[in-house]
Amino acid sequence: MTKQDIKDVVKAFADAAADAQAIGFDGVEVHGAHGYLIDQFFWEGTNDRDDEYGGSMANRQRFGIEIIEAIRDRVGPDFPVMLRFSQWKMQDYDAKLCHTPDELEAWLNRFVEAGVDIFHASTRRFWVPEFEGSDLNLAGWVKKLTGIPTVSVGSVGLTDDFISGTFASKQEAVEQAGIDNLVERMTNREFDLIAVGRALLQDPEWLIKVKENRLDEVAPFAKASLKELY
Ligand SMILES: Cc1cc2nc3c(=O)[nH]c(=O)nc-3n(C[C@H](O)[C@H](O)[C@H](O)COP(=O)(O)O)c2cc1C
Repeated sequence: MTKQDIKDVVKAFADAAADAQAIGFDGVEVHGAHGYLIDQFFWEGTNDRDDEYGGSMANRQRFGIEIIEAIRDRVGPDFPVMLRFSQWKMQDYDAKLCHTPDELEAWLNRFVEAGVDIFHASTRRFWVPEFEGSDLNLAGWVKKLTGIPTVSVGSVGLTDDFISGTFASKQEAVEQAGIDNLVERMTNREFDLIAVGRALLQDPEWLIKVKENRLDEVAPFAKASLKELY
């Protein structure tokens, strides 16, 4: 991208956020995860620029920071701006943007200063610890390091056949990926919100059934090729 391309895209994000606000949305989420454009700047695996948008992490964040600042400038202080980000990339599930809690903290703080209100820390499995020596997942670390509202995500409700290869036994699957583990993490305020995708596609009444403790009534997961994707 040329510098002009970057300016155009930053403005397009700000215009879109202002439009969303004008037509009555309650907030916006900027997708800076999964190896898409913003994340391609963040990650050293895809960013080989030698100008101020490449090199150090602060430089690789610049494009995302400019987008958040431009949005904040247009929507004012009271309109929630959320940033979705991930360590993993579509191109590499094991990729890491930040290798240590200290690196993550520096990365997050630049975004808090730019105007992010909420982080959506995307992981493929909500129960996987992010760094050694702690059970906290990525969202847990974000919350611990910034104190601001945080969303977690990743294979909620997909315990049985769907991810069976991940666990040594069914019991282990239930203990780690089960709803009780999720509820415990939320009760402990490890993070504030949880996003649910496939479980709701499979059974639109999933949330009601979970709330009413009717988990045994959740429709069984159709074995699908989606497994290969995520
Ligand atoms: C088949 C499939 C396709 C997906 N496609 C995208 C995508 O195009 N872009 C994206 O950012 N996330 C994509 N995701 C990830 C979702 O945004 C979300 O993080 C994920 O489904 C988490 O919810 P779940 O684990 O509860 O399903 C996809 C997930 C699945 C299962």
